[in-house]
Amino acid sequence: MRRANDLVAGWMRRAGMSVREDAIGNLIGHYSGHGPQSAASGTKGKILLLGSHLDTVCDAGKFDGPLGVILAIACVERLRQGRFRLPFDIEVIGFADEEGVRYQTAYLGSRVVTGTFQQRDLKRKDAEGVSMAEAIRRFGGDPTKLREARFDPRQLLGYVEAHIEQGPVLEQEGLAVGIVSAIAGQTRLEFNFTGRAGHAGTTPMGARRDALCAAAEFILAVEHYAGGKPGLVATVGQIQSEPNVSNVIPGAVSLTLDVRHQRDAARRAAVARLGRMARQAGAHRRVRVTSLSVQDTSAVPCSPWLSGLLERAAGHHQRRTVALVSGAGHDAAVLARMTPAAMLFIRCQDGISHHPAESVRIQDVRVALTVLGDFLGLLAESVGRNTTNQHE
Ligand code: HGY
Ligand code: MN
Ligand code: MN
Repeated sequence: MRRANDLVAGWMRRAGMSVREDAIGNLIGHYSGHGPQSAASGTKGKILLLGSHLDTVCDAGKFDGPLGVILAIACVERLRQGRFRLPFDIEVIGFADEEGVRYQTAYLGSRVVTGTFQQRDLKRKDAEGVSMAEAIRRFGGDPTKLREARFDPRQLLGYVEAHIEQGPVLEQEGLAVGIVSAIAGQTRLEFNFTGRAGHAGTTPMGARRDALCAAAEFILAVEHYAGGKPGLVATVGQIQSEPNVSNVIPGAVSLTLDVRHQRDAARRAAVARLGRMARQAGAHRRVRVTSLSVQDTSAVPCSPWLSGLLERAAGHHQRRTVALVSGAGHDAAVLARMTPAAMLFIRCQDGISHHPAESVRIQDVRVALTVLGDFLGLLAESVGRNTTNQHE
């Protein structure tokens, strides 16, 4: 992350931005507006946030996150080359730790920006036992200054994030870009199965309390249950088995469960049902099952105002636009709690993501960059008109 921030900071400076890092490591580039209209339109000092996350999952593709940051920087670079000054400032953010890979707590950077960071998460330990607070300090951040790093919502016009679709719709529709109508809610849980380790050779099958067999039954039950519920996705992505030795009956297993749905009620009902199924899978093996909800993010509609401007901008470059619900989570879902937020999706090959084969067409990226540029012009008109209306 240090190498990524330093590299991207150089690109931000070359595009004409001043650059800073906040207390958790978000990378922020600033491009002043103070165009002639800003005084008249009362938007002097107002900030439009653009960007996405710079972190990725392990063994990831190149585009999930970084493409949105680079597109935002390229937008500013074009403004500067064209000597355009908008009636508002632009801040490009490369968010820190959106994926939540190291501490299972997604959106750390955007939670700090919106003041929704959970202080208790600073105590969470990573696989090497390093606390989040220590990791932030080692990175050069300051875990005691996270609250002060919150943005003032009164200063913000909104947040717009360009991101690969990570799904098949735009490819099926033959479209380069699409507009996101809503971002699905997600719950991330940790389950612990506690049985009893024992000798693989001398313990009769009927006398075992095999934690891994209980977990295995639960994992297949998750797949079967979610497969029967339209709109529901549920994933066991991570599992640890102790003592993880070939001739010892597993005594303890921990695993993660990721549950998502467009409707919060459906997601929460599924989480409750799956919790009961985990305990049942343990009960007839005398394996104790506990669970902990690590992250619970509600479904979020995108801003009709900003999405409408994005849709008009996209309409300059493709005959029609589609509105998509995002099954993936995004920093926009967190920003939307504090300021109007919208997303532009970009077609990606076979919808592949969280995988090295992630890829986009250069032509689609060019369309996205042009759409974002047009969007900025439409937004400048919109804030000018709105503020003028306010004066009338
Ligand atoms: O997991 C997600 O939905 C996103 O990639 N952070
Ligand atoms: Mn991702
Ligand atoms: Mn992403």
